[in-house]
Formats: sequence, C-alpha cells, structure tokens
Amino acid sequence: MKMEIIKMDKISVKYGYIEALRDLDLVVNEGEYIGIVGPNGGGKSTLLKTILGLVKAYEGNVTFKGTTIKKSGLTIGYVPQITDLNRIFPITVQEVVLTAKIPAEKSWFHKYSKKDLNDVEDVLKKVGIHNISERQISDLSGGEFQKMLIARALAVNPNVLLLDEPTAMIDIKSQKQIYTLIKKLSKEMTIVLVTHDVKEITKQVDRLIYLEKNILAEGDPEEVYRYAYLRPVSVAHRARARSGGGE
Ligand SMILES: Nc1ncnc2c1ncn2[C@@H]1O[C@H](COP(=O)(O)OP(=O)(O)O)[C@@H](O)[C@H]1O
Ligand SMILES: [Mg+2]
Repeated sequence: MKMEIIKMDKISVKYGYIEALRDLDLVVNEGEYIGIVGPNGGGKSTLLKTILGLVKAYEGNVTFKGTTIKKSGLTIGYVPQITDLNRIFPITVQEVVLTAKIPAEKSWFHKYSKKDLNDVEDVLKKVGIHNISERQISDLSGGEFQKMLIARALAVNPNVLLLDEPTAMIDIKSQKQIYTLIKKLSKEMTIVLVTHDVKEITKQVDRLIYLEKNILAEGDPEEVYRYAYLRPVSVAHRARARSGGGE
C-alpha cells in the first residue's frame, strides 16, 4: 500500500501581484522518487519552499501524513538552488555540514559532540567529498559545492529529500556523479527533485511532473517527457482536459 506522506491541497502562492502557483494539488507517496520540470519561473522552487514552510500559501494547505510536519515524525532534508550569493561565505565544508546539527534552542554556544563530527564524516564520505572537508568553500568547484549542499541536507538524517536544481552550472562528470548518488539515495528515502535535465531524470524517476503554475502533465516519465517537450500542444490539451474535471 502506498502511504501519502506529503499532501498539497489547492495551494496558491503569490509574491505581491505575481502568481507563482495556482490551485495546485500534489501528493507525495512514501518511497517515491518524483522529478519536477518546467519553464523558468514556472514555480518549481516555490513548490519546494511551500512544502518547507519557507513560503506561505495564501490559499490551500500542506499536510504531512495527515497532520503537521512536527507530529508526522518526518524529517526533511533540503538542497537549495545555488545562487552566486550563497557561494561567498568564507567557511569550510565541514562547518557548513555541521550547521545542520545545531539544535535550534541553543545555537550560539553549542559545542559539537564527537558523534556530530563522526556523523558529518559519514555524510561527507557518502557524497564523496571527505577528502576536501577542510577546504574553504570559496575554493570548491561547482560540483564539489553541490555535493556539500547534499551532504548538509543528509546530515539531518532525512526521510524526505527535496533537491532544487542540484546539477545546474556544473560539469558533466559531477552531474553524472550526483545523479548516481541521488538514484542510490532514492532507495533509502522519498525524493522530490527539481531539475532542468529532463532527459537525464526521465530514466530514473518514478513519476515526472511538468509544472507551470499548476501541474500540466504528470505520470509516467517517458510519457510526460513526450507531452511536455516533443508535442507542446498536447500539454495544453491535457491541461484543459484536467481542468474540465478528472484526469
Ligand atoms: N522572492 C520572490 N519575490 C518575488 N517574486 C518571486 C520571488 N520568488 C519567485 N518569484 C517569482 O515567482 C515565479 C515563480 O518563481 P520560482 O518558484 O523561482 O520558479 P522556478 O523555480 O520554476 O524558476 C516567478 O515569476 C518568479 O519571478
Ligand atoms: Mg527555481
């Protein structure tokens, strides 16, 4: 039996006058590996942020196993989309990953335990960057930086991992390594991956979603890929069919 762990119910989000999501319904099942694609500005980052509570929906609500995130017992790891801005902090890889281990109540004077340090070592190994843990993050390549953000998300021991374009602006070799890693992680946790690499993920996700303010196509990855990128007209047809009632 599939268990619904995240449910977005009639979600609408606005930034001022800009509508980013409109009346969006989405269910994420336990153990699922979902890919989200769509045009720039289509609301992909907003969707992830709404799940995380970083953005408030003006309509609709998000529930976790039918309740609040706290009561659900779920832990969500998040890999934010890289911008030039978040690349300039002068701290080491290990410090960035450790920040995930600070208990919220005593963030100022918290001392890291041996266990914290071991856990960090473990996640750095898992993503393959333990050999550069002392390095300043300003000296990391794009691929290393992305792997560090994934390590940081994994440090909270998540059962759900949300990734926002984890392979944007990096070399092909790192991209391949990251997709291999995510595929491996998908066997241990639920994953929602936002990306531009439609071709690449069509081969590995369980379900593909094409998002443009609302879900215009979703389901079997190959089919959605064809609808969304090879016969764009069909997307509009399908969208109309959906809003006309039923899927
Ligand atoms: N903080 C913000 N303030 C104002 N507008 C925003 C903000 N974040 C996103 N938007 C707008 O909301 C829409 C959806 O953005 P976003 O969720 O980032 O899309 P995507 O990740 O698919 O590119 C876009 O029109 C974008 O310009
Ligand atoms: Mg985005």
